[in-house]
Amino acid sequence: MNGRLPPGDPGAPDASGEDWHPETLAVRRSTPRTAYGEHSDALFLTSSFLQADAQSAAARFAGDEEGYVYSRFSNPTVAGMEMRLAALEGTECALATSSGMGAITLLMLGLLKAGDHVVCSRSVFGATIKLIGDVFGRFGVECSFVSQTDAAEWKAALRPGRTRLLFAETPSNPLGEVCDIAALAALAHDCGALLVVDNCFCSPALQRPTSFGADIVMHSGTKFLDGQGRTLAGALCGTRELIEGTLLPVQRSAGISLSPFNAWVVLKGMETLSLRVHAQSARALELALWLQQHPAVARVHYPGLVSHPQHALAMRQQSGQGGAVLSFDVAAADAQQARERAFALIDATRLCSITANFGDTRTTITHPASTSHGRLSEQQRTAAGIGQGLIRIGVGLEHISDIQADLERGLAPMA
Ligand SMILES: Cc1ncc(COP(=O)(O)O)c(C=O)c1O
Repeated sequence: MNGRLPPGDPGAPDASGEDWHPETLAVRRSTPRTAYGEHSDALFLTSSFLQADAQSAAARFAGDEEGYVYSRFSNPTVAGMEMRLAALEGTECALATSSGMGAITLLMLGLLKAGDHVVCSRSVFGATIKLIGDVFGRFGVECSFVSQTDAAEWKAALRPGRTRLLFAETPSNPLGEVCDIAALAALAHDCGALLVVDNCFCSPALQRPTSFGADIVMHSGTKFLDGQGRTLAGALCGTRELIEGTLLPVQRSAGISLSPFNAWVVLKGMETLSLRVHAQSARALELALWLQQHPAVARVHYPGLVSHPQHALAMRQQSGQGGAVLSFDVAAADAQQARERAFALIDATRLCSITANFGDTRTTITHPASTSHGRLSEQQRTAAGIGQGLIRIGVGLEHISDIQADLERGLAPMA
């Protein structure tokens, strides 16, 4: 027993529905209602839970009796968010963490030891490269960084007996490169390793990595799951054995837990996830097509475009959608001009928010080389294909014409 099961009647209407569609699970999958019969999910803003007596407290702390004891271990609102996310990802369990990076930290702490080896795409989010490569490198975990798209490089990097994890992010941030989840899962399993997929860009509304063989799905709930830029959150989704058997005990000690309030925000955010992601993805495709023909734009990176090198794979893995994040290179003669033009374009916007987040209903614009990937060395950035003229757009829910007009203000003088 792990103390995570919610008390109450498991047959209550919102706790059932094994055969419901994802859209229904997103609004109906919840922990049972309290005795007050609240319609919206309750927020349990409490750090600890009363125990009936000393004997029962001892049994719950020892894990011999189900029940909540302390919110670092478990909390009903957090459990509700975990249930809903697991239902959407199609996994047995989910474990919420304080942020997306917190989820990767917990993953590494829970599954690896000194001497173990990880293979990771060199195109993943900058902080992920720092954390897996540098921080865990100091604790004796080695990492080989490989091409996002060339499965042969992943295979060549495997060290049988030592490689424990393959870590992929697809589509990648910010270039939208797509890796073949099924191919990487087969490589991982042949070598006795697990495949972890960061599913931030698509969210389960578009992509369920475990249906292609991934073992663990990682989330930054800060992105589409919340969807309105309100809170940091993260999660790991997988089998009960991995999540509750292996990772939960480590979280209990490490304290990388999600606040009930933040869990509640994400829980409510997920109710509109599918509608938002589909609408934002449709706008992103329209914007990508427009940018592609713009004379001031050198190249657009968006898996929804037929010209994208992994377009066919993306359509198979991502429910036929490109997602709501795209990036593009402004046309320029050299790196210095590229940076100046990228900055000028960002500064010319009045609608797009100049901020590094994405997955928000508000369109965001950022210069990855100096923000999200600014801590990487020039060599790491070049290897990841992130140039000085690259701009990333997290497409929101504004009218597409308004977004285009906002970008045109900066692009027109460069054309
Ligand atoms: C792809 C990806 N993974 C992980 C993270 C980290 O998530 P968080 O900011 O919630 O820690 C981010 C943040 O931007 C991201 O873009």
